[in-house]
Amino acid sequence: MKLHIAVLAGDGIGPEISVQGVRAMEAVCRKFGHEVTFTEALCGAAAIDAVGDPFPAETLEICRQADAVLFSAVGDPKFDNNPAAKVRPEQGLLAMRKQLGLFANIRPVQTFDCLVHKSPLKDELVSGADFVCIRELTGGMYFGEKKEGDDYAYDTNAYSRAEVERILRVAYDYAMRRRCHLTVVDKANVLASSRLWRRVAQEMAPQYPDVTTDYMYVDNAAMRMIQDPRFFDVMVTENTFGDILTDEGSCITGSMGLLPSASTGESTPVFEPIHGSWPQAKGQNIANPLAQILSVAMLFEYFNLAEEGRLVREAVDASLAANVRTPEIQVAGGAHYGTREVGDWIVEYINKK
Ligand code: IPM
Ligand code: MG
Repeated sequence: MKLHIAVLAGDGIGPEISVQGVRAMEAVCRKFGHEVTFTEALCGAAAIDAVGDPFPAETLEICRQADAVLFSAVGDPKFDNNPAAKVRPEQGLLAMRKQLGLFANIRPVQTFDCLVHKSPLKDELVSGADFVCIRELTGGMYFGEKKEGDDYAYDTNAYSRAEVERILRVAYDYAMRRRCHLTVVDKANVLASSRLWRRVAQEMAPQYPDVTTDYMYVDNAAMRMIQDPRFFDVMVTENTFGDILTDEGSCITGSMGLLPSASTGESTPVFEPIHGSWPQAKGQNIANPLAQILSVAMLFEYFNLAEEGRLVREAVDASLAANVRTPEIQVAGGAHYGTREVGDWIVEYINKK
């Protein structure tokens, strides 16, 4: 297969982990005889600094031409505490999602047996937790009408039936391929937009008789995720709730540095770690590249390259088992491995297979 990948490394630790994702992808493609090419493009603060736009037209074009985007992270503290800043790195990410029509954000929350003790939750609660959050990504408050005055401001949480239906379809497809349990998360006791979500879900549920559909208010879901994460198989929710719940979900595993995601929709799909740009760690060779490398596994799986995806996952598992780990998940007394060294080990593992 021929694969052309747009590489958007972005800011902070982005460029360091991006390199390791690219190397892992090259190694797997070499092994399986796929021809892969990469084109780098600017986004985030790096793009603001270079051309004054966090998602330049040229980057959009490179993404459109590619089969997939391997994205890393955007964000820079110089913008964070400046509410007056006219352009922000995050706008680049939002522009990418909107312009590529990436309405479905797939965020798996998977635990690794050897890391269960790193979770802030008790081992017995976390062990075996394995669910997917499907977050709607191009609607809701993120993109609704806004007003930002000095003394008055609002964001609008608007959804159309069509937007709700298409994301629910994605969620049901996932549920059918997994344990056939879908939880629709909303705030239908208070919000009109949530009542639309719930109505549409209730209409669609009978089309999926094999799937058990249940409905949960978002506050309750936030609690249930901590009390009993194994309850969930697939959850689906609107943009803002999904943003919040997936950060919570990432804690369950023990390190944000382990979770990949996929964003799919109308145009080129994007694969990225769920963590941010961690500016404090920039250039220090301490960031965990596994979430980025696992994003490559999701990329292969998207193209039905299951064996390729499996090899990436196997390499990641093997690195953890061999205690080749970045500092935040290293065992007491374990050797020091940086971003590069973990990447080296994984590439070598793939090459030797
Ligand atoms: C995420 C991030 C983004 C979001 C930020 C960086 C705009 O938190 O992907 O979850 O809020 O969607
Ligand atoms: Mg978030």
